[in-house]
Amino acid sequence: MDYVITGGAGFIGSHLAKLLVKQGHRVDIVDNLSVGRLENLAEIKNKIRFHNVDICNGTELRQVIAGKDGIFHHAALTSVPESYTKEKKYFDVNVHGTENVFDVAHETGTKVVFASSAGVYGDTKAIPTPESAKLEPINPYGITKLKAELLAEKYGTKHDIVGLRYYNVYGSNSSMQAGVISKFYQNVTANKPPVIEGDGKQLRDFVFVDDIAQVTIFAMEKKTGSVFINVGSGVTVSILDLANLFIKYSKKNLMPVFETEQQGNVRASQADISLAKRLLSWQPETTLEQWIQNIFKK
Ligand SMILES: NC(=O)c1ccc[n+]([C@@H]2O[C@H](COP(=O)([O-])OP(=O)(O)OC[C@H]3O[C@@H](n4cnc5c(N)ncnc54)[C@H](O)[C@@H]3O)[C@@H](O)[C@H]2O)c1
Repeated sequence: MDYVITGGAGFIGSHLAKLLVKQGHRVDIVDNLSVGRLENLAEIKNKIRFHNVDICNGTELRQVIAGKDGIFHHAALTSVPESYTKEKKYFDVNVHGTENVFDVAHETGTKVVFASSAGVYGDTKAIPTPESAKLEPINPYGITKLKAELLAEKYGTKHDIVGLRYYNVYGSNSSMQAGVISKFYQNVTANKPPVIEGDGKQLRDFVFVDDIAQVTIFAMEKKTGSVFINVGSGVTVSILDLANLFIKYSKKNLMPVFETEQQGNVRASQADISLAKRLLSWQPETTLEQWIQNIFKK
C-alpha cells in the first residue's frame, strides 16, 4: 500500500515508518523537523520519500497526501509544560493542522489513523479507563487533542477516521526529552539519582513503541469504522517503582530524590484496552520491566 505519515521523523512516526517499510509498503513522510530528526529515519532513508512540509500549510500538505491509500497523522506539538506557554502555537498545529489533514482525506475518502492521547481523559477517576469515560482534559495540550477528536467526529462520517488514545509511549529515539523514562535513564547512566516530581505515587501506563507501531497499522488495515480506541499496556507502575527499576537494573548505588511536581499532571492513568483487543486483535508484547532490564544488558 501507499501510505503517508505526518510527524514521521518523530519518535512514534519513525518507528511506524520502519515497520511499514519492513512490511513492504511505500511510505511518504511529512515533517517540518521542528522536533523530529532525519537521523531517526537514517536506516530507511533510501526506502522512503521525505517532505519537509508544515501541516499548517494546507496547499503543500495536499500535494503530498492526496491520493494515498491511507494517512497516519502523528504530527503534533506534544509537551504538556510547553503547551501552557505556547497555547496558540499548540492550537494552530494540533487543531488547525489536523483539520488540514482531515480536509484532504475527506475530499478523497482516505482512511486516517491519527494519534490522539490519554490526555483527553484528564484526571479521571475511572481507572482503568474505558473509551466511554468523560473527556475532561486538564492542560492545553490535552484540550488540543480533544478538539482534534471533535474534528474527527465531524469529518469521519463518510470515511473512517480512527483516533488512537495513546498512553505513555516509551522506546529508543524518544524525542520527548521531558519524558520521565528518558530523564531517569539519562540520570542513572550518568550516575545521578532519578529525580521524582511529587511523591512518586502517581500511576502511569507505559506502552512500548514497537507495540504502538503494530497496533497503529492494525487500526489502518482492519475494518474499524470511525472510532476512538485506547492504546496502552493496560497495567500501571508508580513513578517511584519506575525509578527503583532503573536503579535495580543499572546496578547503581543510587536513591531517588524528590522535587515539586509541575502543573498539568494527572494522579493515575491506566487504559482499559478491551476494545483494542477485540476490534484490532492486538495486545502489547513487551513489558516495561523487560525493556529496562534489556537496555542495561547492552
Ligand atoms: N509519545 C507519547 O507518549 C504520546 C502519548 C500520547 C499521544 N502521543 C501523540 O503521538 C504523536 C507522536 O508523538 P511523538 O511522541 O512521536 O512526538 P514527536 O515530537 O517525537 O513527533 C511529532 C513529530 O511531529 C513533527 N511536527 C510538529 N509540528 C509539525 C508541523 N507543524 N508540521 C509537520 N510536522 C510537525 C515534529 O517535528 C515531530 O517529528 C503526537 O500526535 C502525540 O501527541 C504521543
